[in-house]
Amino acid sequence: MLRETPLSDAVDLPSMPARHVEGLPGDAGEHQFRDSLQQLRDMQGFLQTRRQRFGPNFTHGYFGFVQLAVGEPDLVRELLLDRGANFSSRMGWDFSIGELFEGGLMLRDFDDHRSQRNIMQAAFRPAAMRGYLDIINPIIDQTLTQWGRSPSFRFFPAIKQLGLQVATELLLGESLDAKTGRKIGRAFVDAVRAAVAVVRRPVPPSRYWRGMRGRAFLMRHFASQIEERRRGNQTDMFSQLCRAEDEAGGRLSDEEIAQHMIFLVLAAHDTTASAITTAVWALGEHPHWQDRLRNEIRAHEHAIMQYDVRDALVETDWVFKEALRLEPPGSFMMRRTVREVQLGPYTLPKNLTVTPVSRITHFLPDWWTEPTRFDPLRFSPERAEHKQHPSLYYPFGGGAHMCLGVHLATMQTKAFLYQFLRRYTVTLRSRCPTRFQPVPIPHPTNSLPIKLSHASTSEGV
Ligand code: HEM
Repeated sequence: MLRETPLSDAVDLPSMPARHVEGLPGDAGEHQFRDSLQQLRDMQGFLQTRRQRFGPNFTHGYFGFVQLAVGEPDLVRELLLDRGANFSSRMGWDFSIGELFEGGLMLRDFDDHRSQRNIMQAAFRPAAMRGYLDIINPIIDQTLTQWGRSPSFRFFPAIKQLGLQVATELLLGESLDAKTGRKIGRAFVDAVRAAVAVVRRPVPPSRYWRGMRGRAFLMRHFASQIEERRRGNQTDMFSQLCRAEDEAGGRLSDEEIAQHMIFLVLAAHDTTASAITTAVWALGEHPHWQDRLRNEIRAHEHAIMQYDVRDALVETDWVFKEALRLEPPGSFMMRRTVREVQLGPYTLPKNLTVTPVSRITHFLPDWWTEPTRFDPLRFSPERAEHKQHPSLYYPFGGGAHMCLGVHLATMQTKAFLYQFLRRYTVTLRSRCPTRFQPVPIPHPTNSLPIKLSHASTSEGV
């Protein structure tokens, strides 16, 4: 059984981030209760009102501490590239997920982070990705056949269930239908729910306690499998990670593999389900985009997406990008200053939470045409609004901590839309406009009731 060793503390910071700061735009965390409540109720409204009042960078209260939200592209770039190793991701995230997801890639910094990430890259190379698509495609196929039997349902819980199934089979090489798969699925759901629990003490039967119990189960489970996976030739991500090496032949320890696996499921699971939900909502609202994508997809003969077809789905890509611009699943990239540091015109004290916020940058009216409108053509080569600045559009982050799963998430979304739109036409069932709640992950408050009808085709469904 694995006993976890705490990571060496390369960063000398107190466990609590700063609660107050002087001399920066915004109101310095004076109104903790009001700010936190407003963010929970209406994150988008909170950020846009602040931006109009203070500009794209401002301080605000955030559940007991002060945070500098950064939306100006030049400063976002400086922060994400972090050439002076001034901003700790580990300590930025520590407050919310440090204990539950200890040792995950985002909870590591600088040299330690770089060397672990180098080894992990092996599990995201094209050869591995082809194998992942072979796992994903049949799961989508079976699920869509079932959806066709009850064509009116709520999309968000259904895609989350599909996401959990994909995560269990693709990431872990287990079937969600089997007993072990079900136990793993439950442990993950407990750990993910605990990450947003208000009471953060492992006292039974609290949500946090269930999360920590889930983590302990997962650590034990992974540890018991690693030796066998190292010797085998399975194509799931867990097995790939067990065999992964960097250029110098360096490998991950058993403990590191287990820690990374727990974090990977967190990173992969709800993010992709959320992005697909936004895309499907937008396609329901804008049927002519549904037709455009269906035509693009049907230009390819296969009933399921082939690996080499991914890049040819250009308009599908614009829609996915636009969904991620409007509702980015990870819109805050938490960091903490490890020393006093200059960021553009601002002198930041040590131990301040500072975070690029894509929800601010993605809506800056000086850069985007009608930023609140769903308009995938803004990503077309003729307009390419996102290319005006390297840090104007960053749903997957940037710099050393940029999302490791960007290509996997894109491939999974395209594989889904490819089969989904080939078979079905989506109609939204709600009479009221759909509202998205961005916390903890963007989701429609009505769970997105939809109706599926068979898309007219010579192939049938
Ligand atoms: C639409 C889906 C996804 C979105 C929008 C997304 C977004 C992000 C963002 C914004 C970050 C950077 C966080 C930061 O800098 O603090 C990140 C990091 C990460 N993501 Fe994703 N992600 C998605 C899917 C995935 C998938 C499918 C995987 C893998 C299976 C994954 C694995 C990771 C990992 C390992 C990191 C940490 C990288 C590091 O610290 O070096 N993500 N993701």
